[in-house]
Amino acid sequence: MARIPDAFIDDLLARTDIVEVVGARVPLKRKGREYSAPCPFHDERTPSFYVSPVKQFYHCFGCGAHGTAISFLMNYDRLEFLDAVEELARAANMEIPRDERARTPDDDTRGVYDALEAAARHYRNALAASPATQAYLDGRGVDMEIRELFGIGYAPEGFSALKDALGTDERRLKLLERAGLLSKNDRGHTYDKFRDRVMFPIADRRGRTIAFGGRVLKSDDGPKYLNSPETALFHKGRELYGLWQVRQAQQKIARLIVVEGYMDVVALFQHGLREAVATLGTATTADHAELLFRNAPDVYFCFDGDAAGRRAASKAMESVLPRMRDGRQAFFLFLPEGEDPDSIVRSEGTEGFEARLRDAVPLSQFFFDQFSEGVNLGTLDGKARLAERTQPLLAQIPDGAFADLMRQHLTTLTGVGARNEAAPAQAPTRRMRTGRGVPAPKRSLVRTAITLLLQRPALALDTPDQAQLAGLRQPGVPLLVELIDLVHARPDISTGMLLQHFEGRDEAASLHKLATSEIPGDAESWRQDFAGAVAQLVKQTKQQRVDDLMLKWREGGSPSALNAEEHSELRELQQAIRN
Ligand code: UTP
Ligand code: MN
Repeated sequence: MARIPDAFIDDLLARTDIVEVVGARVPLKRKGREYSAPCPFHDERTPSFYVSPVKQFYHCFGCGAHGTAISFLMNYDRLEFLDAVEELARAANMEIPRDERARTPDDDTRGVYDALEAAARHYRNALAASPATQAYLDGRGVDMEIRELFGIGYAPEGFSALKDALGTDERRLKLLERAGLLSKNDRGHTYDKFRDRVMFPIADRRGRTIAFGGRVLKSDDGPKYLNSPETALFHKGRELYGLWQVRQAQQKIARLIVVEGYMDVVALFQHGLREAVATLGTATTADHAELLFRNAPDVYFCFDGDAAGRRAASKAMESVLPRMRDGRQAFFLFLPEGEDPDSIVRSEGTEGFEARLRDAVPLSQFFFDQFSEGVNLGTLDGKARLAERTQPLLAQIPDGAFADLMRQHLTTLTGVGARNEAAPAQAPTRRMRTGRGVPAPKRSLVRTAITLLLQRPALALDTPDQAQLAGLRQPGVPLLVELIDLVHARPDISTGMLLQHFEGRDEAASLHKLATSEIPGDAESWRQDFAGAVAQLVKQTKQQRVDDLMLKWREGGSPSALNAEEHSELRELQQAIRN
């Protein structure tokens, strides 16, 4: 996928007014320097959703939702990143630059899409010509409408049906190869990857075919399902089979049902449950979890009732927890051994499957059941074990009512966590906002500098010598230096754009917290605080270098352990520190 240059995104956000974008969708009321409304991302009566024209970002103190105009469109209009960018670019009358690589002839991405589309057509035509395959689909209860909706086809027998039909010249052959449709033998000879299989095209979020899954017709013919390899267009950890069809079927998706297999999705659709998606033979990844919740507030995971199913469920749980903002719910449904959603919905009907969905286990229950297994909560040791097992995961849940309730429940079960666990995650923001007499925690200089910089990026412009800081061995220093560099490179950068820059990195969540914490004082005191913090850090960097040199001296046992240059450096540093 062509990458849009960061500079363009910055430019786009700079020319977009987030208040306008949000205001067109949510009724905003002016409140001091910001605008507020009841949060569109969770249910609430008193508004805790704020949009800041200065920082150019939105933030909900209730559920923690936050981001730039781009992320707002992604979450509110449920757009993909690229589509959100396109929409804003259109409004701002800007043209998205094409990626340089996309222009070079050997990166013919368009051509690969076309090859995949042509292959899908080829397979559909072959299905029309194969009574045996049609009979197979009849036997599995898949009617014409559903076959068409999913573009189901058939890869004919033989080693070169597709290659002969579509690989008519060198370029086309290359494209088929890059589309993952050909295999290669030891002698470099290529042949059709999918042979004598029922074909399920995998659509991306715009409905374009990016890969295939193929199921054997004769059970003795290799693996039951063969999937396209990972290609430039297809990363299976990021795709959900059926999502395109679900989005076609409904405007507002109330829930998604996550299953394991192609045929499970198809069968649920066939029975009117047009909200099923499948992970493609992989565990539920963090990308999947994000994608699921971006599309629906409620997600039901279906698993086999056996040990493997339980393991898969815990994996899914781990991917989902960090995304459990308020307003989102996850459920786990375990099927009887030997059954899958396809067999269940066929034997029990839509109603039967619905009944099972109603009985699904909520995430909170699955979580504590899972970790309490084999733990005797009647003993102190058992309680300690449960607390120890769960705390790291609980810490990943975004701030909000769900997180509070989960921690409270742990406290109820074990008596652990009431005092120290809940506090660090959210206290700073709240405490500073309400301005009550609780003493603010002692903050490191680095943290102070980062907080000020995030909220008033222009402060960095007064700091010419951040390079001096780079060597300081303290947590957060590389981040501070990166921030200062960023502002130097783009002097107009806003808080929202800075946060955007760190989106997807480990630091994102804590930066976001710092960006929304209320800082006491005014413009002048912030300038002084920032300059003071940086000066102090520069001094510490010098002191660190002095300590290093002294150590070398001591370890060497004589003054000659340092060379002449180092001796004069040491003298100068000591002089500078004293001044
Ligand atoms: P299952 O083996 O449970 O098959 O694989 P299924 O979905 O019930 O298939 P039917 O009903 O017999 O047609 C579940 C999923 O695991 C992946 C596929 O995505 C499949 O849909 N899988 C399975 C593979 O990738 N390769 C395999 O060989 C088997
Ligand atoms: Mn099955």
